Amino acid sequence: MSWEESTRQKMLHLKLPTDPRWASIAEMQLGDVLTDHAYCEQKAASSCISIIVRFNDKEEVVNTLTPIVAEEWGHFERVLEQMRKRGLKLGFVRRDEYALQLKNFSKKGGSRIQQLTEQLLMNALIEARSCERFKLLSTQLEDPELQKFYYELMVSEAGHFVTFIELAKKYEDPQVVNERWQEWLDFEAEVMRNLEVRGDRIH
Ligand SMILES: [Fe+2]
Ligand SMILES: [Fe+2]
Repeated sequence: MSWEESTRQKMLHLKLPTDPRWASIAEMQLGDVLTDHAYCEQKAASSCISIIVRFNDKEEVVNTLTPIVAEEWGHFERVLEQMRKRGLKLGFVRRDEYALQLKNFSKKGGSRIQQLTEQLLMNALIEARSCERFKLLSTQLEDPELQKFYYELMVSEAGHFVTFIELAKKYEDPQVVNERWQEWLDFEAEVMRNLEVRGDRIH
């Protein structure tokens, strides 16, 4: 099985593997990619907080996402630590073209359950892609400490991916979730195909 095939299968259903040049380009802009990564973790935490606030009446949502907020914020802190060790400074937040396009794709309106499903699937997708990219960093960066760091984060984000999908299926018909998930995957592959490969972005 080729690397692309095994990646596609293992990496959480994604339909288009990351451009193989990406990790080495990112390595040349480590301060930039770490800054972007830090803000990805911040956005992951912020997004879970927003879901908790918006769906406060859904006990399982609140109970499941609360510890994830802490984990994502822990990741933010760990990225900062890696930056500090290398004399790198947290830069400005970047325009997140990838997330913006996904956000535009999410269906507005509908029932609250439909809105919850959209939000959880979007989060699951971002986790899946982050996971795929962290795997590339864990195998392709030269720095052994960063390899280990990205391996650990890859495992953590894979767990979040599973959690978001399972949570969506607790509130919405699993068949509906599966069908919509396929649409999200197709759209995400299209976004990836058209996004410029940049070493200063996680996505
Ligand atoms: Fe994270
Ligand atoms: Fe995550």
